[in-house]
Amino acid sequence: MPTTTKRTEPDACSLLDTDHRNVKKLFKAYEELTKSKAASSPQKKRDLANEICMELTVHAQIEEEIFYPGLREAIKESDLLDEAEVEHASAKDLIAQIQEATDIDDKFDAKVTVLGEYIDHHVKEERTQIFVKARAARGLDLVAMREQLEARKEELMAELTGAAA
Ligand SMILES: [Fe+2]
Ligand SMILES: [Fe+2]
Repeated sequence: MPTTTKRTEPDACSLLDTDHRNVKKLFKAYEELTKSKAASSPQKKRDLANEICMELTVHAQIEEEIFYPGLREAIKESDLLDEAEVEHASAKDLIAQIQEATDIDDKFDAKVTVLGEYIDHHVKEERTQIFVKARAARGLDLVAMREQLEARKEELMAELTGAAA
């Protein structure tokens, strides 16, 4: 029997990383649309961009409300988390620009592309640095935190999709 079963138990980091992978797929789908000349593509782009913005908004919020503060208490150096929060703020600026845009033109595509690149960079830092530190931290119950993140995510998704309906 392996002695490291605890490692493989789904935790807060694995939930967040599932979000990362899902949004990456949405960015890929958007990229495919930019190559399409179909007349329906502006509406599809708008819908996909809205979905990307919603997913990222909820993801950033659960990290800021639950994951980052929990981590601040458990790890010594806070520089990584300061940087992550600054990156969130910049991503939110771009998200707001995308949500407010009325023309689905080349500039709009560029905004979505840059947001995708930006998120790629941010996710890489979370994966290679922040998650590693979180999993190594003592006294941080990441498995319990996963449940908190999941519950808050559901709540926020319901709020956002309810407001849009
Ligand atoms: Fe983040
Ligand atoms: Fe993240």
